[in-house]
Amino acid sequence: MNRIVVGAQWGDEGKAKITDLLAQDADLIIRYQGGCNAGHTVVADGKTYKFHLIPSGILYKNKTCFIGAGTVILPEAFEAEVNELIKEKIDVSGLKISPLASVTMPWHTEVDGFSENNTSKGKIGTTKKGIGPTYTDKAARIGIKVQDLFDEETLSEKLDVILPLKNKTLEKVYGLKTYTKEEVMALCKKYAQIFKPYVAFDWQEILESLKDKKILFEGAQGVMLDVDYGTYPYVTSSNPIGGGACTGSGFGPKSVDEVIGVAKAYVTRVGEGPFVTELTDETGDKIRKIGHEFGVTTGRPRRCGWFDAVTMRYSALVGGLTSVALTKADVFDTFEKIKVCTAYKDKRNGEIYKNYPTNVYIHKYLEPVYEVHDGWKEDITGIREYDMLPENCKKYLKRIEELINVPISIISVGPDREQTIIRKA
Ligand code: IMP
Repeated sequence: MNRIVVGAQWGDEGKAKITDLLAQDADLIIRYQGGCNAGHTVVADGKTYKFHLIPSGILYKNKTCFIGAGTVILPEAFEAEVNELIKEKIDVSGLKISPLASVTMPWHTEVDGFSENNTSKGKIGTTKKGIGPTYTDKAARIGIKVQDLFDEETLSEKLDVILPLKNKTLEKVYGLKTYTKEEVMALCKKYAQIFKPYVAFDWQEILESLKDKKILFEGAQGVMLDVDYGTYPYVTSSNPIGGGACTGSGFGPKSVDEVIGVAKAYVTRVGEGPFVTELTDETGDKIRKIGHEFGVTTGRPRRCGWFDAVTMRYSALVGGLTSVALTKADVFDTFEKIKVCTAYKDKRNGEIYKNYPTNVYIHKYLEPVYEVHDGWKEDITGIREYDMLPENCKKYLKRIEELINVPISIISVGPDREQTIIRKA
């Protein structure tokens, strides 16, 4: 069974825990998009591991963990992450990087930081890891790929095209420092050293040999941050949707059996952008506090809100979800009432939206239409079987399934690997 795990909301849904769980059965775990903007926390045997780019499957022995062509890699961040794993005595011999992955250069992070710090209007609230500018250059065909770092002649030829353009923009548009070719060549040499033990120049053979094995495609961010289908322009610059797994990994659509969308029992978002069910009151604070809703990568407090079935139904559609893994259900253990958004209402004219309005500029006029559910007022963190869940919890889950048209296959009731309910089909 080959599976894709995607974030079904705005990222931070607890994908790492689900990926970690499913990685046990996989031979190959492949990360297909994004970069170190992601922050994935895995708690295994009481120990917490934080991942940004490296597939969390690395915690298991004898797995191939592949960082695919669709990703962008900040060399220093990769180095720090790999060193941390080595320090923890994790075997990284199965870690591979696609030579086709894009390299985040210093100018990418500088431009990302500049754009975020200097625009009061149009701010995206990025992680400032250079993600957008790296993807911009990739699409503009002036990016540097991992493989380029290993061929001086190629690199030199490329830099003759890239640097004059880059320097002009850096200086004239951003007022930032420019780079000499010697400087960049030296930097790339350093990057090559960082990547060398992991670059899979034989990636075609590896993919060929693993074609018939079990593959787990690991998405980062979430469907609503997808550059094509998300809340554009408040999105990341890649394709976290299920479809992105193919382009970013080199495997075709026929290699995929299941797409599991990970969603929280509520919603969080970091950065700017519309969020119709956002709670800016004490209920939002309560969710943030109980759910520990602070960014892994930036430490920013996450915006919190009620479960939004309108967004989720849309996400299930464009994300290609075959089932949902619902996380953090236990965060509601002490709640008297739990709300679910079933539609949006336009404050201007009372129009009701059952389908997700993709023009996010009108979202400021929308308010959520809620239905209210009774809480279960019981600690569910020790429950391991669906039937043992409190009735009100089962009612809540059943209603979500009805609203989003996709079954819930996994329910997470705590951060540990063990705190998981797998529903039998
Ligand atoms: P970027 O990916 O750093 O360019 O940021 C673009 C948007 O995606 C911002 O709203 C970020 O907060 C959001 N974002 C990027 N990565 C993550 C993630 O892993 N979790 C949640 N939000 C993210």
